Amino acid sequence: MAVFALVPAAGMGKRMGASINKQYLLLAGKPILAHTLSVFEGTSFVDGIFVITPEDEIPFCREQVVERYGFAKVRGIVAGGAERQHSVLNGLRAMEGVAADDDVVLIHDGVRPFVSADVLARAAAVAREDDGALVAVPAKDTVKTVEDGIITGTPPRETLWLAQTPQAFRYAVIRAAHEIADAERFLGTDDAMLVERLGRSVRIVVGDYRNIKITTPEDMVLAEAFLKEIAA
Ligand code: CTP
Ligand code: MG
Repeated sequence: MAVFALVPAAGMGKRMGASINKQYLLLAGKPILAHTLSVFEGTSFVDGIFVITPEDEIPFCREQVVERYGFAKVRGIVAGGAERQHSVLNGLRAMEGVAADDDVVLIHDGVRPFVSADVLARAAAVAREDDGALVAVPAKDTVKTVEDGIITGTPPRETLWLAQTPQAFRYAVIRAAHEIADAERFLGTDDAMLVERLGRSVRIVVGDYRNIKITTPEDMVLAEAFLKEIAA
């Protein structure tokens, strides 16, 4: 049973507000996406990687990331879509004929370079047994639901988990969930949601607070600090 990584990196980084798409911003001289791919390349149990990038950046991704850093596991560089969900669906379709139904797919944001090999291994193991695995961390803050500026609820904090990636599934499960959502024009905010809505059980894998999604400029400051800590 093979394990594949599917890495969406086809966003435009609007909240980062940089002059280039944030997945190509440099951290310690290396593009964020290359840091992320290094983790998958370096594990023994990941067999192949598919990267999703904006169509007009496919040559840049191939030359400046995949070839430059020698990522031998990359099997495909796929054009993304308008929303993350469309990008992931494009990637899943591109895996047809390469991934078997029971192979595990680790879907991981290209802008989460601090994921550990241990988390990837645990997510892959759960996805073999359950309908899916979602890496998450317990909410640290109290969360309020709000409508028109007025608090409408305070969900008990013990029940709240913050979703990260990877989110891992067997290929047939996640491909079907994405195809159904697409046919029904349902747009979710993560991959697990598309599986949950089919009544299937996705299990939480406890992650790490360092596995941040680099989203806004202050996340770059945090990322540099984490890198220094790793190097020390
Ligand atoms: N992503 C993607 N295709 C899209 C949108 C997002 O592959 N159409 C990817 C991003 O490149 C990123 C991950 O999904 O690796 C998480 O998305 P997010 O942090 O929202 O990135 P962006 O969409 O680029 O940022 P923003 O929402 O601020 O524009
Ligand atoms: Mg986005």
